[in-house]
Formats: sequence, C-alpha cells, structure tokens
Amino acid sequence: MRDCHRELTNWLTEAGAEVKIDAAGNLRAFYPAAQSDAPRLLLGSHIDTVPNAGAFDGVLGVVIALALLEVLENRRLPFAIEVVAFSEEEGVRFGTPFIGSRALAGRVDDELLNREDANRISVRTAIKNFGLNPNEIPRAVLSDDTLAYLEFHIEQGPILESLGRPLGVVEAIAGQTRMEVRFLGRSNHAGTTPMHLRRDALVAAAEWIVAVERAAQHDTGLVATVGRIVARPGATNVIAAEALVTLDVRHKSDDIRGRAVAALLRLAGEIVERRGLSLGQSVLLNQPAVAMDPFLVDQIQEAIRSTGHQPHRMTSGAGHDAMILAEKVPAAMIFLRSPGGISHDPSESVEAEDVAAALQCGLHLLDQLANSTEFQKRMCRA
Ligand code: GLV
Ligand code: MN
Ligand code: MN
Repeated sequence: MRDCHRELTNWLTEAGAEVKIDAAGNLRAFYPAAQSDAPRLLLGSHIDTVPNAGAFDGVLGVVIALALLEVLENRRLPFAIEVVAFSEEEGVRFGTPFIGSRALAGRVDDELLNREDANRISVRTAIKNFGLNPNEIPRAVLSDDTLAYLEFHIEQGPILESLGRPLGVVEAIAGQTRMEVRFLGRSNHAGTTPMHLRRDALVAAAEWIVAVERAAQHDTGLVATVGRIVARPGATNVIAAEALVTLDVRHKSDDIRGRAVAALLRLAGEIVERRGLSLGQSVLLNQPAVAMDPFLVDQIQEAIRSTGHQPHRMTSGAGHDAMILAEKVPAAMIFLRSPGGISHDPSESVEAEDVAAALQCGLHLLDQLANSTEFQKRMCRA
C-alpha cells in the first residue's frame, strides 16, 4: 500500500493535484477549480484487492481518474476534482468491506475499529501500525462541498462483452449480506469412532454448502457463495470439532435477499439439529441495494453516446465504494467491458481501446457537467 501511495502521489502531483493520505489510509488528491471556493467532484475507486487477484478491479478506476487529470493539463473546470484511492474495499483482511469509503461517509464506528484479522490485529491497530491516527478518522469525512462521486470500474461480468459494447452505466448496485457461520460438533478419533456416533462439524458444513448452492440456483437473480472454510482442529485423523464457513448473499431486492438469508440459516439449524451439533453465526455486513443518481446516470449515458458508443444501463452485482458514497452524495458508475467476464482472478483484463473509450467518455462527461444547467444549480447549492 505504501508503494502504491508513493507511485500515485508522484503521478498525481505531476498532474497538478495536491495529495494527502487520510486517517483511514485513503489517498486524496485535490485538483483545483477555476475559482478557489468552487465545490468538488469526487472521482475514484479502491487500490486494495483480493487474494490471487487480477490487476484491474479497483485500480483501473483510480488510474482513469489520474489520466483524466493528466489530459486536462492544468485546464481549470468550474468545479474542483478530488481523486480518491480507497484503502480497503474488498473486506479480505477483516471480513468487513468498504472500510475506506465508510470513513468518507462517517460510518467508521468502534465495532469496525475493533474487528480483528486472522492474527488478532484490530483495524485500529493496523491503522496505527501503518503510521496513521485512528482518532483522526472523523476528519476523513466527505467535505460539505462535495457535488457527486463518479467511479470507473471493470464490469467484472459478461454482459457488455455479450452485447459488444465497451461501456455501460450502472443504475443500481445489488445489496449484499456477508456472514460467518460456525458449525460446532465434537472432535474425536478418526479410527475408533463409529460413523453413527460422530458429530462431525465439517460434514454438516458440507451438507449446508451444497444446500446453499441449490437454494440460489432455484431463485432467479439470487447469488449465494461460500468462499471460505476453516476446519478445526484440521488434521487427517481427527473428526472436525468446528467448521467455520463464510456466506455471501446478493440480490437487487433487499427483501428477497433478507428472506433468502433467513431461509439458509433455518436450513443450517435443521442440519445441526439432525446431526446433534450446534450453530454460531455473526453478520459481517448487511448492505442494502442502492440506486445511482438518475441525473448522473443520464449524463453518463449521454457522454457514452456522444463519444460514439452505444451505452447499456445495468445493475452491478459486485459491491463498490459508490454504494457507500451514494448514502451521502449523488453517485454513479461507468463500467468497462471485462474480457471473458472474468474478475477476482489473475486472468482479469481489459482492452486498451475500451480504456481509451472510457477516457474520452470521462473527459466529455466533465465538460458536459460543467455546461449542464442542472449541475450548475447543484454547484450553487453546494
Ligand atoms: C467486491 O469486489 C465485491 O465483492 O462485491
Ligand atoms: Mn473486487
Ligand atoms: Mn472493485
């Protein structure tokens, strides 16, 4: 992260921005407007990633924002631009995502700061270890003069490719629930314990994982994933006493998502009861679906069209910092086609000509907003 900050700071400073790192580890680069008291437009995405990741999820949005400043070549707009490289969006280390953007939304609380990673290091301690002061996180909150937040991101799915279109505009982002579910059984000797006398936590978890897949397959638009399992004590010749599994459930309807999660937990309850086990559960995230700002969505659509492409309006199944920022300011996203629809994998990629299209569209969008009567009204109010 430190290396990324150094490199980005060099590039952004060169492009005419003033760079700071806030107390949540977000890089914030301010590119001034024509007038010093003008409000600001935020452009950004995240620079953390998942294990065994690709190179574009998050980072591309930050680099496109940087490239937009570069092509402006110190030309001043009626609004300032703040580029934000969010520190933590994926939720890999602490199980809870969006730590960087939650700081901007004023949503970092003690519960989040006290969450621990696998080595029992809390978010608070990790921030201190990085050389930042967690007590200053309230100062990372969005400035009052923030007009809007725009995020470029790879689609991470196959839709734009199937339509043969380089760019899409996001109308809404699906809500997500993330949980840890703990199956608690009894460890015992693998050689001496007859099959009918076992309380095997790992087998109970396995039965549930298959049921999770089946339940989501029967519900259009619902996706449910168990991405991680830890068996304890974790030896070949020991029946597992405990199986900790993660659950990630998403749908564009919060109601359907909520009912699906409740049904899956009921199912886990039935499995442990039948097998003589018990169950523990903790919710890591319950993030509602959000709509993007309709005015910005229309503006993006127009910018895509004006730069020679056919736009596609879509819902994002992936979570994004934009869904946290949207609670506070108008927000919208521009998606770039993902070759093969692959993401969260090293083969994740993007076509150079699609990045060029995104840049052209972005530059057009900035000028379009500067000349829009509605945006000018918003600037006066900010
Ligand atoms: C972010 O990548 C997510 O899991 O939605
Ligand atoms: Mn991701
Ligand atoms: Mn991402």
